[in-house]
Amino acid sequence: MAILSGTPVGAALTTLPLDPLENRILLCHATGLTRIQLITQSERPLADDEAARLEALVARRLAGEPIAYIVGKREFFGLDFEVSDAVLIPRPDTELIVELALERLPPGDARLLDMGTGSGAIAVSMAHARPDARVTALDVSEAALAVARRNAAANGATVRFLPSDWYAALGADERFELIASNPPYIAAGDAHLAQGDLRFEPVGALTDHADGLAALRTIVAGAPGYLADGGWLLLEHGYDQAAAVRALLAARGFSEVRSWQDLAGIERVSGGRLAA
Ligand SMILES: C[S@@+](CC[C@H](N)C(=O)[O-])C[C@H]1O[C@@H](n2cnc3c(N)ncnc32)[C@H](O)[C@@H]1O
Repeated sequence: MAILSGTPVGAALTTLPLDPLENRILLCHATGLTRIQLITQSERPLADDEAARLEALVARRLAGEPIAYIVGKREFFGLDFEVSDAVLIPRPDTELIVELALERLPPGDARLLDMGTGSGAIAVSMAHARPDARVTALDVSEAALAVARRNAAANGATVRFLPSDWYAALGADERFELIASNPPYIAAGDAHLAQGDLRFEPVGALTDHADGLAALRTIVAGAPGYLADGGWLLLEHGYDQAAAVRALLAARGFSEVRSWQDLAGIERVSGGRLAA
């Protein structure tokens, strides 16, 4: 029998070993109770199966598994996204590139490309906010694309999904008013890959298996061939990569090259514009 069987949910909330927010999330997930019901039904005892589920969830969290993988979802840009270990967990920092893209995507049926879509966080948020735009999202991982397709459907967003190694599957005559990407940018062997949530995330979403700039270089190099005149390229990158990405953009002939800071004041996104 599970140790917590028969424990009132209110008491379980305060005795679980995680931080208060995580205790609450896992208790809701194991019981199906809402946050409000945890309060209004605080004396309700945990059934044996609920207690067993809860204890298994807590054990996974104590082993370091990210809470988003345990509950299978994460909120991003006000929408619910399914996540699994096939996709990077969408980060709050990435909302910056969505905001910048929304400010720059022309009105009407503008074309947007999200490269390395993962869960679909950027593409689905954009298509949801701009249903008049034509959004294409690509990824080299078929497993990620399956998750992204479900996220588009669940959020009522229309996105064209494409399995592709960066630009490889795009037609030579395709053009976009804006290309956005949050590619893998952690250098091979970086100590962060063996720490925290990153240990559980797909390695191909995190590292370029090189110096951290390999995917960014490929995307910058190919972008002029797929951008409409005056089109924007926006790239998320690592905390120490802004100057290097600006240099890549300038060397490839982009104008209006600059970086933007995230909420922590770190230059998180860099971009530039193709001459009109
Ligand atoms: C850092 S994750 C970003 C996921 C999502 N866009 C986000 O911001 O949460 C990078 C994504 O790029 C994809 N990727 C890696 N190499 C790729 C390649 N050669 N071509 C296309 N996509 C690639 C990975 O599968 C992963 O989904």
